[in-house]
Amino acid sequence: MADLSVKMAGVTFKNPIIPASGSFGFGREYEHLYPLSSLGGISVKGMTLHQRDGNPPPRIAETPAGMLNSVGLQNPGIDYFLEHELPNLATKGTIIIANVAGSTVEDCIEIASKIEGTAVDMIELNISCPNVKEGGVAFGTRPQMAGDVTKAVRDVTTKPLMVKLSPNVTDIAEIARAVEANGADAVSLINTLLGMKIDINSRRPVLKNNVGGLSGPAVFPIAVRMVWQVANAVSIPVCGMGGVSRYEDVIEMMLAGASTVQIGAALFTNPTAPIEIINGLTNWLDERGIKNISDIIGGVKPW
Ligand code: SIN
Repeated sequence: MADLSVKMAGVTFKNPIIPASGSFGFGREYEHLYPLSSLGGISVKGMTLHQRDGNPPPRIAETPAGMLNSVGLQNPGIDYFLEHELPNLATKGTIIIANVAGSTVEDCIEIASKIEGTAVDMIELNISCPNVKEGGVAFGTRPQMAGDVTKAVRDVTTKPLMVKLSPNVTDIAEIARAVEANGADAVSLINTLLGMKIDINSRRPVLKNNVGGLSGPAVFPIAVRMVWQVANAVSIPVCGMGGVSRYEDVIEMMLAGASTVQIGAALFTNPTAPIEIINGLTNWLDERGIKNISDIIGGVKPW
């Protein structure tokens, strides 16, 4: 059987499949469906320094081939995670990625410092949430700011540091280069694309926040394009995400240059998608006699 293991930023994943931050909580809602040890890793819900309730509802809306969310980083805070969720996750035999979503650079430093010395395997620094007024995408749309927050976290952590990039920019490769130059070990992309849906009868936006982040199959070709652009712009590995719902999407994303792949919106309609995808990958590789999945990374042949 093909070897699905991949190495990214010095971390070995048993396979490249990682439920994306915000779509899998801390794993508890899924562990009765399949062993979490089947997964390459888990990126937990984005965590702030203190507990947050998020934005007022409605904050989820269905769209053609996708969904909008304006959750606004609802989470129990880093201390709760470290005390109540990490001990459970640490028994699951999978790579734990802590998504850090501080409102300020100082918050990001404090959260990363608290994670140092814990069982977390990797930090995913979220500079791309479109649903909050402070932090989030405000960090991720300017190269200087993206570089500064990356450096600030780099200075306080020895954990592998992955930075999650926003697609809501003109040149995502420029942002990727800025975070690489400031110590990122990997980049993950894409977070959601800013979108809007209006109820034509009430003339009100469907989301109370007016706008939200679009994810799901509708964004997949944009994600592949950006993964390809970034993979060609930096030397650090890329974790691809955005609308991945089938094993074929994972192969496409890896050919574009992704070393690992996160599954997000697909989990809301098909909670067992990661397992189906892992099985599909094995069959696809075996049918073609490809022994190691890492051999397909960046294998696209552009015209
Ligand atoms: C949210 O909680 O608003 C989504 C998180 C994100 O887009 O980073």
